[in-house]
Amino acid sequence: MTLINENYLKLKAGYLFPEIGRRVKAFTDAHPDAKVIRLGIGDVTQPLAPAVIKAFHDGVDDLARGESFHGYGPEQGYDWLSKIIIEKSYKPLGVELMPSEVFISDGSKCDSANILDILALANKVAICDPVYPVYNDTNVMIGRTGEANDKGYYEGLVYLPCTEANNFTPAIPKEKVDIIYLCYPNNPTGMVATRAELKAWVDYANAQGSIIFFDAAYEAFITEPGIPHSIYEIEGAKTCAIEFRSFSKTAGFTGVRCGLTVVPEQLMALTASGEKVALNKLWNRRQCTKFNGVSYPVQRAAAAVYSEEGWSQVQETISFYLDNARLILEGLKTAGITCYGGVNAPYIWLKTPGGIASWDFFDKLLNECHVVGTPGSGFGPSGEGYFRLSAFGSRENVQEAVRRIQEKWGNR
Ligand code: MLT
Repeated sequence: MTLINENYLKLKAGYLFPEIGRRVKAFTDAHPDAKVIRLGIGDVTQPLAPAVIKAFHDGVDDLARGESFHGYGPEQGYDWLSKIIIEKSYKPLGVELMPSEVFISDGSKCDSANILDILALANKVAICDPVYPVYNDTNVMIGRTGEANDKGYYEGLVYLPCTEANNFTPAIPKEKVDIIYLCYPNNPTGMVATRAELKAWVDYANAQGSIIFFDAAYEAFITEPGIPHSIYEIEGAKTCAIEFRSFSKTAGFTGVRCGLTVVPEQLMALTASGEKVALNKLWNRRQCTKFNGVSYPVQRAAAAVYSEEGWSQVQETISFYLDNARLILEGLKTAGITCYGGVNAPYIWLKTPGGIASWDFFDKLLNECHVVGTPGSGFGPSGEGYFRLSAFGSRENVQEAVRRIQEKWGNR
């Protein structure tokens, strides 16, 4: 019989969010009248901006006419989209990029997984703990790890704990690592990195010859001045960092699918015999072979995010979600619950009341308040005793969820 990739059998449980979905379904099947509020997976709820919808429609209309029809597009995305992104999203930060360095894709989740294709399995990888589970699981799937231990740490990966004790800031590892995943604003903790903290990572990476995978999917939610939106705002980052960005949370594209990955031309890695190779070329080769580009109407819709009208509409939606985050943060604090994040990110990271285990809190919140969140331990062992609430709900649902939580835990 055909043999499987046994690395998949090392994975501890199902992927986190489907597992939550399964538990919620079991609950709603048993309690069909319960008004369940879902603040688990970070999925947007507000409609696309009108300017984006118009461009999307126009893109589809183009496909209906012979003279404006588009077949296969460039695997790297249309030049006009890359140029707008550079102009509107990077130039204002003082970052110069070339269109050849920007690869449009169907999302940063896929890219942050697919990027592993172009780097050797022998690389030592460091990830934060807790972490967006994709970074951990894709390294297991590709065969970089041994089995997980009792705590849930996989043999072969270096884990960087982010807890209250270190203000959720990972310490630079003492040992040499070749690849470091950083995500800021952070999923799940909602915390950010200062310029000095990122500078320390960039200096480490350049000194060691390591590469940083910088996931900036939530950069649009940064409200505090001085917090970097891109790793390339840090001097030296172009020789050590790949950046992932997404339209999902920025512009409500979770169901539309569009993201981008920046691979600077200067970024090099080595062959086993010590020869330098540009990663831009390898990623381009990988995309040309395994990816056929994002659909034309979706790229038209993405470009409209940067129109004057589109930008202000998108900013309004981001402010709406950030107001939700503030309501959750303040509401939970009033109930005596210790919370983090929620200021520069759409996630609130809370300590479970009474220190109960994350999944027990999940069940309690679902059964007693009919509110769904995400157990901190699902993001890694150091997330145990924490819980994540997403601010992407409707205003009514967010207010109602806070009210139910306050009613349950407020008077202790
Ligand atoms: C999350 O809830 O962590 C995210 O929505 C997952 C994702 O973006 O893939």
